[in-house]
Amino acid sequence: VASCLPKHKVGKRQWPSNQFQPRASIFKVAVLGAAGGIGQPLGLLIKMSPLVSDLHLYDIANVKGVAADLSHCNTPSKVLDFTGASELAKCLKGVDVVVIPAGIPRKPGMTRDDLFNINANIVKTLVEAVADNCPDAFIHIISNPVNSTVPIAAEVLKQKGVYDPKKLFGVTTLDVVRANTFVAQKKNLRLIDVDVPVIGGHAGITILPLLSKMRPSVTFTDEEVSELTARIQNAGTEVVEAKSGAGSATLSMAYAAARFVESSLRALDGDSDVYECTFVQSNLTDLPFFASRVKLGRKGVEALISADFHNLSDYEANALEALKPELKVSIEKGVAFAHKQP
Ligand code: NAD
Ligand code: LMR
Repeated sequence: VASCLPKHKVGKRQWPSNQFQPRASIFKVAVLGAAGGIGQPLGLLIKMSPLVSDLHLYDIANVKGVAADLSHCNTPSKVLDFTGASELAKCLKGVDVVVIPAGIPRKPGMTRDDLFNINANIVKTLVEAVADNCPDAFIHIISNPVNSTVPIAAEVLKQKGVYDPKKLFGVTTLDVVRANTFVAQKKNLRLIDVDVPVIGGHAGITILPLLSKMRPSVTFTDEEVSELTARIQNAGTEVVEAKSGAGSATLSMAYAAARFVESSLRALDGDSDVYECTFVQSNLTDLPFFASRVKLGRKGVEALISADFHNLSDYEANALEALKPELKVSIEKGVAFAHKQP
């Protein structure tokens, strides 16, 4: 089934992979916010994974129909629906990976931080339930502002005594997907060969593509670097404006999130060659959370890849310093929110 999708290299492999042979469909995945713009196509892509035995779809409304619809696809996983807070615990029991795209999206003129007041509460409540019901699961946070919602999730997990920093991920895969697409177009490269690491965070200037560290090694003019960097940083806004009030990226996000889920499942299944960029607890800079390439393994983050931070171009080194104050404020806002709640 996975061979229906186009191939992209992730680390040394392609996604979807036809090289890595999974043992069987053995993993349980939950999507919280499954009836939404991201949740629906993401559910479809996860339903196509040969590694998934059970797909649990949770939302506060409209999820029954989505689950009935998806359950007719003749792929291995069993699809179950869960509606509302009273069914959340059942949805999460025994789950290996929880993906959270619940929350409101941007409209034109808004920043991701403008979503904080509503989405912070949603993420807090959902992660509390994750802590109570599947504390060992990998947690993928998609809900914006990711630069704050991941620190909120970390604090909630700490308060519950179950925080494992190796298993909490802010999903920044869409930044890599976009960077690969735009760079391949600009330099007329085969998409399958292109892999651009994107570090920092997931908002505006905190999104920093490292064009000097991309594969294959390519030379850019200064104008190309600043034009490509700006396009990658503003790509979310590009979609928000094109949708004119009807939401933000959903289809490309579902594609990116499905890639991150598949990478996580391959790591859980023992593949020792899984690398992704993601926003995690980090000691690669002086900030407590930072997106970088990481090596994924059975226990989550096995290693943060520091090599990408060496020998940065002047442009990248300046951009790295420039993004830190904004990212710091967003992280601290998330931590403060989690602490002031009863
Ligand atoms: P959407 O409004 O289409 O869907 C959100 C879904 O969340 C809805 O079905 C809604 O019912 C559900 N929901 C709301 N409160 C909930 C709760 N308490 N429990 C469970 N479900 C709940 O929005 P969307 O387009 O799918 O976007 C969702 C979020 O993802 C937004 O915050 C958006 O900014 C973010 N996003 C992140 C990235 C990224 O790269 N990380 C990319 C795109 C969008
Ligand atoms: C994106 O990058 O597309 C998402 O973060 C959604 C948004 O608000 O831009």
